[in-house]
This record gives sequence, structure tokens and C-alpha cells, in this order.
Amino acid sequence: MAAPDVPAPDDHPQVRVLRERVRALLPAARADLEALVRIPGVSASPEAAGALEDSARAVADLLREAGMPEVEVLRARCADGSPGAPAVLARRPAPEGAPTVLLYAHHDVQPPGRAQEWTSPAFEPVERDGRLFGRGTADDKAGVMAHVTALRALLPAWGPTGGVGVTVLVEGEEESGSPSLPDLLATTGDRLAADVVVVADSDNWSVDHPSLTTSLRGLLELEVGVRTLDHPLHSGIYGGVVPDATTALTVLLARLWDDAGDLAVAGLVRSEAAELPRTEEELRADAGLLDGVQLVGRGSLLSRTWTRPSATVVATDAVPMADASNTLAASARAKLSVRLAPGQDVEDAERLVTEHLRATVPFGAHLEVSRLGSGRPFDGAAGPGGSAAVLEAADWALSTAWDGSPVAHQGMGGSIPVVAELLDVLPGATVLVTGVEDPDTRAHGVDESLSLRVLEGACTAEALLLARLAGDL
Ligand code: BES
Ligand code: MN
Ligand code: MN
Repeated sequence: MAAPDVPAPDDHPQVRVLRERVRALLPAARADLEALVRIPGVSASPEAAGALEDSARAVADLLREAGMPEVEVLRARCADGSPGAPAVLARRPAPEGAPTVLLYAHHDVQPPGRAQEWTSPAFEPVERDGRLFGRGTADDKAGVMAHVTALRALLPAWGPTGGVGVTVLVEGEEESGSPSLPDLLATTGDRLAADVVVVADSDNWSVDHPSLTTSLRGLLELEVGVRTLDHPLHSGIYGGVVPDATTALTVLLARLWDDAGDLAVAGLVRSEAAELPRTEEELRADAGLLDGVQLVGRGSLLSRTWTRPSATVVATDAVPMADASNTLAASARAKLSVRLAPGQDVEDAERLVTEHLRATVPFGAHLEVSRLGSGRPFDGAAGPGGSAAVLEAADWALSTAWDGSPVAHQGMGGSIPVVAELLDVLPGATVLVTGVEDPDTRAHGVDESLSLRVLEGACTAEALLLARLAGDL
């Protein structure tokens, strides 16, 4: 049979032209990304309020300069009435009959952690071995730049009447649990209306293999406080008969896991993830696990992070080493971060974890459990599911941008609570969760970095997707 003379979509001259146009825009994307990374917009830190304002303004300027006709900085209110971090909303109304695409990213970042552990300063972006290092290079300022770059590539060619409608929402407090997002969604109302939502804030299978994220875990953050005494005591005089709070808390926390390191809380939603080829060796290497340290939990490797719950003690308040004396502590507390499987109801999870803690608290210690924050999981397989044609366009765009690589449809263990919130207000929309990270990104950690290959792929894929949705390709 003769070879078809219709070129494969990725060989199509117009595809090549758009890919070249994005490639020519990459130096600017890189420079603008570096400028954003230099703004230390840590949403968890009250002293960073000015930096978050600068960062929102910088993002607004980028979107305006890319050709978005309506750009504003929004300040919504948290439930307690305090002001939320500035978000950026940009809009380009849909031409007659065209769909609208909502592009989401966040411009805030996690705190840098211990400055002395970074190879180069967290807020001074530096390239090493094809990667750009710095806090927020990937999570999620690269997501911002993927949107900006796709718009730079397309808006001039579209003119006022072509293309699709575009709405860009760049949040400024995602890393703090989006406290003012409910108000923002309520007050923006139908200005966020969209047929397709692209959330550029997840991971990829690897630098060379892009992913579409099909599920995300939810998050329940609890403060667990234990009190045993109304004042500290000499540990020699009372130790052995009077329990101290630090030990009681340690015993209580240990009872959250069984001997295999699997979460021991009964009743939480758990399921098995689809098998994809990730070996234990690859996982150990990606994680930087030390020799001889065993993995924890049960079930397939991928279900342990994607479709089963887990819990981590992310912080403790106990006597610091420098202040140690031989004393029985009266109180101690921990922050527990519980990841929830797709399909898990947050209230149910809170009740189950709290009941488990109440049932296992040792020595009759006084226990106080309070919720510090939460975010719902995302289960792409549940609900209306979205449009098959849009999913196909996304697969094609990602694969083409990655030179024909297959696209992994995969769960992720991280949480992007805004996805469930957006689906509440846009029940008919197709949500595409795309990624700017890869297994070596170290988001939230020391030496966070972005693969420049992934930056190119993410910018190219988004431009191809929007062009395809516009019927240009
Ligand atoms: N971008 C991440 C989430 C993520 C990373 C999802 C990689 C999938 C793969 C996001 O910025 C994040 O860090 N989310 C927080 C939750 C938030 C409520 C603080 C998280 O997962 O800890
Ligand atoms: Mn993120
Ligand atoms: Mn993050």
C-alpha cells in the first residue's frame, strides 16, 4: 500500500511553523521566568506580602504585554475577613462560536527552607546541566510562563476575531491552601466560565515523557496537641511514674502506622492504581533514598502515592535541643499532613483520623485535634469526564511537543485543591492537568529546579493545544 500523502499531524507545515515560533520565544520565556524567580513571593510568610504584590504585578504585565486585552489584579477575602494574596485574572472574550479555555497557574512559592543547604541561592536562578535552579523555577512559575509563551505565540496571529476565548487565572496563595479562593470564585462568577481548563502545575513521567495527570490526592492538615501536666517537672523526681507530653505524643504518632509503615487508620478510601512501569530502583534513585532504607506501605508502588492515603509528621513543637534540661514536658504538638486518596471525602477523613487518635492516645493524655487546612482530591475518572476530542487534542499536543513520545496518563500523589473547586463552578468543563515538573524537580525542597527541556515542551504543547482547539491545526 502506498504511503498516505497527507502529512502526519506533527509533520504538518503549520505545526512546524508554530513549534519554531515557540522555540524563538524561549529565550524571552527563560529571561522572564528568571525575573519572576527573583521575586520571593512566599505566600506562607506574612513578611512577603510586598513581594507577592510585586509578583502579581509582574505576572499582570507579562499577560498584558502578551496581548491579553483585560488584565486585573484581584484581592479576595479569606473566611475570617482578612485579605487574601493577590491573584491575576486576564481575559480575552471568545470570538463568536469559539470555545473558552481557562489557563491556571500560581505565582506564589514555598519557603526556601535552610539557605545554607542550597547549592546556589534560592532566589537567584542559575543554570546547571540543562536545568534552571531556584525556588519556583518549576513550581509554579514555569506554569505561568507556559501560559504566557503560548499566548505570545498565538495572540498576534489570531488578531481580534480569531482563535479561542482565553481566561488566565494566576493565584497567589496556592502554597498556603488558597484561603481566599472561595471568595474569589464567588465574586468572579461567570467571568471564569470555560469549556476547557488547563492546570499547568503537576509533574511529568520523566523529562522525556510528558504526562496528563488523571488524579490527585487531597490533603488534610491537622494540629495534634497533647498535654499531660499543668507544669514541667524534674525528670528524676517524677520520671518513671508521671508521663511527659513529648513521649505521649511520640507514642500517639507511632500508632498511626502499622509495622509495614502503612497508615493504620481504618475506613479511609484506598484503591489500586493502574500498573505503569516504574521500578523500585527508579523510585529509590529519584527519591534519593539511602542504602538499606526500606520502602513503607502496601500495594503497588504507584498506588502508595497515587491512590492510597498517607500521613507525614511535617512539624513538631517540642523542647529544642539547645534548651534541653532533664524535665518532663507538659505539652507538645505536631502538624500532621494526611494525603487523601481520590474519592475520599475530607470530612469523613477528618472524623476517621480523629477517632483513631482518640482511640490510641496513650496514658490518658489530654488530646486536642484541630484542622489547619484541607483540599479535596481530584478523580478524573469520576464525574462527567469531559470531552474526548479535547483529551485527544491534549494527547496530540503533548506528544508532538515531546517529539512523538507517548503521553503517560497517570495519577499523582500531590494535591492541587483548586481543581475540585473549579470543577464545582464549571461542572461541564474538561480539565487538563499538565506538568512543568519532573521526578528530579525537588519542588518545595532545597535545590528545586526546572528541566529546560520540560519548559520547552510545556510551552510548545500549550501553544499546539490552543491552536488545535481554535481549529488552526
Ligand atoms: N504543584 C503542586 C502539586 C503537585 C506537584 C501535584 C506535583 C502533582 C505533582 C502544588 O503547588 C502543591 O504543592 N500543592 C500542595 C497542596 C497545597 C494545599 C499546599 C501539596 O501538594 O502539598
Ligand atoms: Mn504548584
Ligand atoms: Mn507546590
